[in-house]
Formats: sequence, structure tokens, C-alpha cells
Amino acid sequence: MQVIILPSTHDVALYAADRVVDVINTKTNPVLGLATGSTPIALYEELVARYQAKQVSFRQAVSFNLDEYIGITDSHEQSYRTFMNQHLFDHIDIAKSNTHVPLAESKDAIVLKKSAQDYEASIQQAGGIDLQILGIGLNGHIGFNEPTSSFASRTRIKTLSESTVAANKRFFKAGEYQPQLALTMGIGSILDSRAVLLMATGKAKAEAVKAMIEGPLSAMCPASALQLHEATTIVLDEDAASLLALKDYYQWCELKRQQLYEGSLT
Ligand code: GLP
Repeated sequence: MQVIILPSTHDVALYAADRVVDVINTKTNPVLGLATGSTPIALYEELVARYQAKQVSFRQAVSFNLDEYIGITDSHEQSYRTFMNQHLFDHIDIAKSNTHVPLAESKDAIVLKKSAQDYEASIQQAGGIDLQILGIGLNGHIGFNEPTSSFASRTRIKTLSESTVAANKRFFKAGEYQPQLALTMGIGSILDSRAVLLMATGKAKAEAVKAMIEGPLSAMCPASALQLHEATTIVLDEDAASLLALKDYYQWCELKRQQLYEGSLT
């Protein structure tokens, strides 16, 4: 794993934006894997700013989001489709028909299973994901792959854990229906991406970050599965990195990498 520790949340967003723009500018038909949650909002703001400054165009891009709540409409204020439209798609030149968020409005298991299979098939048809953006849940989840999710899992129905429901409660109005199930890309689907970039910021994520990077490979921390991916970058602010035992070593690695690429290695 490449672990990058940056001074602020803003730097984390800038780094992630550079990586996304690099994929867009180097691939003919770039396929992005996108995430929701509060962490990537700053990334999306930065991408919108770069699009407005004419530094990047998303005209050729295709996107696949990680997950969607089951049982609410696409147009629901709290759906991940709405989130993506509001934070990114409505403000850039990506064709909406090229943006994919799992279709999970139905509460019928057969319809949902078919939707999950179709989602996997469309990722394949698009040629697979070039760069998958991820956040991390307080309990180490990626997408909505909760603890004990199989490392081989594909897009499927997942019941949310109590802690995830509690963490996401802040987004729903008092008394409003809050979904407890989601359709999520699996850990196996995520590991198929050609590269993974996980962003984590803030002290609250420090435990999960430590378990992901330095803990054992365990279904109890779904993000630890990223240890198996050969092209994973974890980009952190100082707070999210605060519990890492080998923090100095990761910073040393980055310094040496920089010197190597700049030709100033001594
Ligand atoms: C949600 C999403 C995840 C996200 C996580 C953390 O439940 N399904 O994809 O990474 O929560 O969100 P936040 O960035 O708001 O902490």
C-alpha cells in the first residue's frame, strides 16, 4: 500500500483530484469508480472548479458509484444518485447516461438481485474501473461492505450495521424513513479495479485507518482487503493518520519516492 499523509483535508482533496484528472487525461475511455459520504465532497468541489477553469473535461468519462440505499427513489433527497448529481454530475460535462449508481428503489429481492447482476455486467462492458475512489466507515467498511463481508463478494444486497445506520442518521430528517439495506459493489468488485484511492480525514477515522493498513487481513475490517490490491493508495490527513505505528516510515517512503522521480536521490 502507498500511504500518503498530508497536512490538511484540503491537501487530501487536491491529491485525489490530481489522480482523477490524470486518469481522465491519460485514458481514451476513462472509467471512474465514485463514492459518496462527506469525505469526497471536497474532491468533487475541486473537480468542478477544475472543469470550470477548463482544465479538465469529463465528456469521455464513464462512472460507477459504489452503492445506493434500498427502497428510496432516485430523486429522494438522501439517495446517493441525488448526492452525486448535486455534488458533481450537475456541474460538469459528463453525460448523465454515462453515470451509473446502483438501481435500488425496489423492495423486491428478485428485482434487486437482477439489478446487482446487471450492475456487475455494465462495469465489465465498460472495460472495468480505472480508478476507484473510496472513503472508509467508522467500522472499516468500504462501500456498504460491512464487517464480515466476504473478500470475494460482488454487487449485492447488504444489511447495514447498527453503527452505520447511526452514523448516517444525521442526513435524515427526524421521523423520516431511513433505509437499513443497500445495494453495494462487493469487496471482490472493488479489488477488480485497476487502481484504488481511499481518502480518510479526521480523528474519528484513525482507528479504522490503523486497522486497514496495519491490522491483520480480516473480514472484521473490510478495508483491510485493500492490502491485497497491488495499486492501492491511502491518502490521509494528519488526524486520520494519528494512530499509525509506522507513520514516519510512510513519510520517509514518500520522500524517497519523490527524490527518485525528481532525480535528486542521494
Ligand atoms: C457511507 C458510504 C461509504 C463512505 C462512508 C464514510 O456509509 N457508504 O462509501 O465511505 O459512509 O462516510 P463519511 O465520508 O461521511 O465519513
